[in-house]
Amino acid sequence: MILFYFLFYAETILAQQPPQPEDVNVPGTNFLDHNSPISSYFGQEFLKENIPFIDIPDANIQEIYYYRWSTLAGHLRYITPGTGYILTEFLQPVGYAEAYNTIDAAAGHQIDEARWLRGSFYAGDYIQVYTRGPGNTTQYTNWITDAAYRRAQVNGDVEFLTSQLDGFLRMWDEWDFVFDEDAGLYYYTPLYDAQEYSLPDYVDAAETNDTAIQFQGPDTYRPSHNAYMVGNARAVSETAKLAGQNSVAANFTNLADALETAMYEHLWNPDQQFFVDVIRPDNPNLTQLQGREEVGLFPFRFGIGLEDKYCTSPSEELFDPQGFYTTYAPATLEVRNEYYSATKPNSYCCYWNGQSWPFSTAHVLKSLASMYRSNNCSLVAEKYYQYLSIYATTQHKDGAPYVAESHYPDIDEWSGDSFNHSEHYDHSTNNDDVITGLLGLVPRLDDVLQFSPIIPSNWTYFALENITLARPRNFSSVTLGIYSDVARGGAIDCPEAIEIYGSSNRLLARLDPFDTCVPNELNTISFNTTVESDFLSVTMYKKENLFVGICELQVWVPPDRTSGIYYAVDAVLTGAEVIFNSTGSRATPNGAVVGSFQVGSKVLFSGVYDAGISTKAKEIVVNAMDGDTVLSLPPTDGLFTTVSLQVDLLPGSNFVAVMMESGYDAVELEYLLVV
Ligand SMILES: *[C@@H]1O[C@H](CO)[C@@H](O)[C@H](O)[C@H]1NC(C)=O
Ligand SMILES: *[C@@H]1O[C@H](CO)[C@@H](O)[C@H](O)[C@H]1NC(C)=O
Ligand SMILES: *[C@@H]1O[C@H](CO)[C@@H](O)[C@H](O)[C@H]1NC(C)=O
Ligand SMILES: *[C@@H]1O[C@H](CO)[C@@H](O)[C@H](O)[C@H]1NC(C)=O
Ligand SMILES: *[C@@H]1O[C@H](CO)[C@@H](O)[C@H](O)[C@H]1NC(C)=O
Ligand SMILES: *[C@@H]1O[C@H](CO)[C@@H](O)[C@H](O)[C@H]1NC(C)=O
Ligand SMILES: *[C@@H]1O[C@H](CO)[C@@H](O)[C@H](O)[C@H]1NC(C)=O
Ligand SMILES: *[C@@H]1O[C@H](CO)[C@@H](O)[C@H](O)[C@H]1NC(C)=O
Ligand SMILES: *[C@@H]1O[C@H](CO)[C@@H](O)[C@H](O)[C@H]1NC(C)=O
Ligand SMILES: *[C@@H]1O[C@H](CO)[C@@H](O)[C@H](O)[C@H]1NC(C)=O
Ligand SMILES: *[C@@H]1O[C@H](CO)[C@@H](O)[C@H](O)[C@H]1NC(C)=O
Repeated sequence: MILFYFLFYAETILAQQPPQPEDVNVPGTNFLDHNSPISSYFGQEFLKENIPFIDIPDANIQEIYYYRWSTLAGHLRYITPGTGYILTEFLQPVGYAEAYNTIDAAAGHQIDEARWLRGSFYAGDYIQVYTRGPGNTTQYTNWITDAAYRRAQVNGDVEFLTSQLDGFLRMWDEWDFVFDEDAGLYYYTPLYDAQEYSLPDYVDAAETNDTAIQFQGPDTYRPSHNAYMVGNARAVSETAKLAGQNSVAANFTNLADALETAMYEHLWNPDQQFFVDVIRPDNPNLTQLQGREEVGLFPFRFGIGLEDKYCTSPSEELFDPQGFYTTYAPATLEVRNEYYSATKPNSYCCYWNGQSWPFSTAHVLKSLASMYRSNNCSLVAEKYYQYLSIYATTQHKDGAPYVAESHYPDIDEWSGDSFNHSEHYDHSTNNDDVITGLLGLVPRLDDVLQFSPIIPSNWTYFALENITLARPRNFSSVTLGIYSDVARGGAIDCPEAIEIYGSSNRLLARLDPFDTCVPNELNTISFNTTVESDFLSVTMYKKENLFVGICELQVWVPPDRTSGIYYAVDAVLTGAEVIFNSTGSRATPNGAVVGSFQVGSKVLFSGVYDAGISTKAKEIVVNAMDGDTVLSLPPTDGLFTTVSLQVDLLPGSNFVAVMMESGYDAVELEYLLVV
């Protein structure tokens, strides 16, 4: 047993129901129909609790609006107590995803969209996976800090925002390795700007047609990546100002200004009247690429270039059929370019030399809104609406709402759309563009935005299965996803009656008949009282001639922040195989323990609450900040022993990772105690 002592700030939070928006009991208005617009979509209870409802005289945009909220619901994943929710890019896990199946590339879009959910913890949890947790923020270029700041403009939570400042600063520094001091710009390959097969790649491979070069591309100074970093720097600056850290704020304003200036100097091409790419290798004069790419339109959404001399010509290119204006516009490369392709050479998903990508369209919609609101750029409102309409039309397949990876620019078909993989791809925004773009709700930090809320206080509840819990837990409800297909002629439906038992066959709830059951939804069954149990049994009685189907069973328990104990058995484990050996363990009354770490193993405790002062540790990484204190784990001759150290924790929820490095190949870890 290895015991870590930290200073502990006690706080009791009960969360035995599934988390709900904090303001779920505030009665709102019900002018609009909150049922039929979402009646054919997944996650209706979630949608009713969380989304703003709209009613606009454009059925196309309105239909896609509700569809996209439903797909977002499908991408939310509850990870562990303490970590909470993340958003995935793909519904099925992909091999190249990082911790918890996260991918940082479109996290900015995902946060931009999720900031409108009434449950603020969805985006808040997800942000912290990057600012404090194991999310990898240099896998791909990203604007997570910028999005986190703009999310605070919606929910007004300045306290949360400023509490993330340390993480923002770390994330900023992480990009130093690709900052070119001479050019004053960042560079990265187009592949890790999330855009393989881009123009620089084809130009670099011009003499060879080498597909490996066309795939990854050369290190390139791009308008996209550098604009993201300007946005991030300004967000750090604003956050630091709110935190009273004025010299940090001043430094980041300077960093943002310098980077923006370098973009005008090196990436703005006066002849093409566009922000363009500059390939880095063997290019000491920073010669600019010939050819306009959609990434050249990204800077405007970050407030860059909103003057006539920069924005008028790019906005015109969006409506030029030789520019970006295709049937399913915008294309990712201008049509007149020699490397533009309206098709693909093979079945590989991702070509960024012409295909229409929702990822990029979402950036462009925001740029159009910024251009319009700047009163420069010669843009009329209809132009914005035109693009939003095309985007809604694009998001269909066989006549039904649909979004995949990329769409042919002129053919009515998705080009990046593989089975069991691309469906309902979450790599863009749509609803943020309807709300802040089309409907014009521009959030500010000193405003509170309120939408017509519905309060589904009557979640019905039910379940069927035997659970043995890892250790005794206090809980007061069980939530079941109940399947039914009788409406379309199947034989599976809600059960007739349901009983839930705890330890010693104690009856916790009985619903007979179970007439509150809502099929194909989460049904929560509350008990009369909170029970402590390591056993749970759900018995369901089927209706005559029908069967019962359960998709999901949830047991929500309150985090125990009074004892400050975080059990390894509840932590997230990564790395090498973990062998359980509970002999002699005292971790939990029923002996649950995490045992025998190998080299490379990691135990991640999340949601650690504290406000402490201390030294750092090498094998202890807190909130993904570099640790430098060596944690000594001496041989214990097969006995359990405790080790303590002091570590800095931030106010609020912390991530504490215990890393196993060489020399510690047989460590059993029971828990972390914060005192
Ligand atoms: C993040 O991803 C990049 C690219 O895959 C990788 O080189 C790097 O090691 C990762 N960083 C962390 C902290 O996992
Ligand atoms: C590269 O591909 C282009 C287009 O297919 C072709 O015109 C050109 O001849 C090829 N070049 C080489 C060196 O193979
Ligand atoms: C601000 O930048 C200056 C100059 O690089 C540096 O000396 C100073 O430490 C920075 N201040 C803060 C608070 O980061
Ligand atoms: C860079 O510019 C200088 C000065 O104009 C010129 O002499 C040199 O040939 C250029 N180098 C390259 C690689 O184009
Ligand atoms: C619009 O252009 C004017 C004149 O160049 C400039 O002063 C102003 O800041 C621009 N507006 C925005 C939002 O950048
Ligand atoms: C979809 O992918 C998941 C994850 O790889 C796999 O478990 C599942 O069997 C696949 N489903 C189908 C229908 O292929
Ligand atoms: C729960 O919702 C259903 C369906 O909208 C409604 O019929 C029922 O009256 C509601 N029950 C309560 C207690 O509000
Ligand atoms: C389910 O619970 C019953 C007690 O209610 C027990 O006898 C049985 O072994 C359990 N089955 C499983 C698979 O846990
Ligand atoms: C359950 O709650 C009771 C009363 O608050 C407490 O004494 C007990 O320690 C809790 N048990 C667990 C496992 O948290
Ligand atoms: C819960 O309370 C209700 C009302 O007091 C009672 O009728 C019911 O039997 C109780 N259920 C259980 C499982 O104790
Ligand atoms: C489990 O640990 C005990 C005590 O250290 C040891 O005697 C036993 O051999 C271990 N069992 C396994 C399967 O490793």
